[in-house]
Amino acid sequence: MNTPPLYRQLANHYLDAIRSGTLKTGERLPSIRLMMEKHAVSLSTAVQVCRELEDCGVLEARPRSGNYIRKPDTLSRPAPIALAPALDIRAYVGIHEQVCAVLKASQRATIKVNFASAYCAPELYPLKTLQDNMIKALRHDACLLGTAGGACGNSALRNILARRALASKTHLPPERIVITNGATEAINLALRAVTRPGDTVAVESPTFYGLLQILESLNLHVLEVPASAHTGLNLQALQRLLQGPERVKALIVIPNLQNPLGSIMPDANKARLVKLCAEHDTVLIEDDTYGDLVDTEQPLSTLKHWDSTDNVIHCASLNKTLAPGMRLGWISAGKWHDRVEMLKHAQSRGCEALSQLAASEFMRTPSYERYLRRLRKALTQQRQQMSEAIIRYFPLGTHVTNPQGGTLLWVELPRRYSSMTFFHDALKVGIQISPGDIFSNARRFDHFVRIGCGAPFSPRIDEAVQTLGRLLHQG
Ligand SMILES: Cc1ncc(COP(=O)(O)O)c(C=O)c1O
Repeated sequence: MNTPPLYRQLANHYLDAIRSGTLKTGERLPSIRLMMEKHAVSLSTAVQVCRELEDCGVLEARPRSGNYIRKPDTLSRPAPIALAPALDIRAYVGIHEQVCAVLKASQRATIKVNFASAYCAPELYPLKTLQDNMIKALRHDACLLGTAGGACGNSALRNILARRALASKTHLPPERIVITNGATEAINLALRAVTRPGDTVAVESPTFYGLLQILESLNLHVLEVPASAHTGLNLQALQRLLQGPERVKALIVIPNLQNPLGSIMPDANKARLVKLCAEHDTVLIEDDTYGDLVDTEQPLSTLKHWDSTDNVIHCASLNKTLAPGMRLGWISAGKWHDRVEMLKHAQSRGCEALSQLAASEFMRTPSYERYLRRLRKALTQQRQQMSEAIIRYFPLGTHVTNPQGGTLLWVELPRRYSSMTFFHDALKVGIQISPGDIFSNARRFDHFVRIGCGAPFSPRIDEAVQTLGRLLHQG
């Protein structure tokens, strides 16, 4: 690793002093003049040291008095991240290639600990029950693998999904549900149903890099709308965009436990968003991949719930909540249902029957709800432990989101760090992380990383977080 510049070495020196308690909260940092004398550095280096410390959030400048060390609780507690960058106008730089390069580099490396995954650890999924259900299904119907299902999927599973949606006050008629190969296929179908190549589609910023890849592969232009870790999509920014000259054909939103922010849109915002999109004739594609992983017993509302004009396409998945290996998702496309059914048939035919049977057999029992409760509880604890470890080991000035569910933490590093450099350094020691840079076309999140907490916390994970912290301190 290269030696950091002098100002950064000095900033690290002061950060260490703050961390160890040598410099205490409320104490004054040596003045610029004293710093120049003590360390034999130039005025600009001393000023840069202070800027660096301010960037890390550890310095408070008091007018005519000097720089003081800030309160420790603002340094050590996970702070929710609010983002309000300016609206991007069609930043389009071929993110697909960059994402593939990141994924390829990960595949080539020997990974010992994977923090890049959004899935839960395999042992948290009900694998034995699903296996038993599969064996039962094959015994019950010896011809199961010899017959092809219809394009819309297994009707028992569609009935269960429709019934479960009622709990979040969402009306998804079973005959309007199509079972898909995960949310990925659902979103592909939704976009193909309502757009043509060259159209413009808006997304949250940051957003799941897989969505950016889908948009690019369909030759759609992307506009990014700022989102915050508190309330998700910024509606004011969206309104400005929709009132502007650009025709926005569709908007993809992850309203519940957004990836990577973990935000949940308040109900009032969901209602306003649905209305706004209907008024501007912009199709709203809802990606509810994570909704069932919310901490609370009370189900989250969907955007579809607020939809009185049939302008929302609801997409979701069982890949995070039940079994990533079964690749089950679904789409309820309302008035576009027939077109989606036709596209599904043309694209891939119906999904494989065995997984659908095994899933529906489990989901129709009360055990499914009990299982979800256990899973949510485990994830709450895992996120908490991971968050504490990050704050313990990462440099001062690091902020971590505090999502109310799911498997993901979005971590803001002090601005001097590049997540791409961090990603490559971590890979060299067998640790995989998701660099912030791939969650936007606009290079706006290079000092962020997404950390997955899908695995039970263990000494091995603790050691890996410590190693990541060490890499950052050396950087
Ligand atoms: C927000 C979001 N949407 C869609 C997907 C893709 O889901 P699936 O694996 O069901 O295709 C993911 C996967 O991580 C995701 O995070």
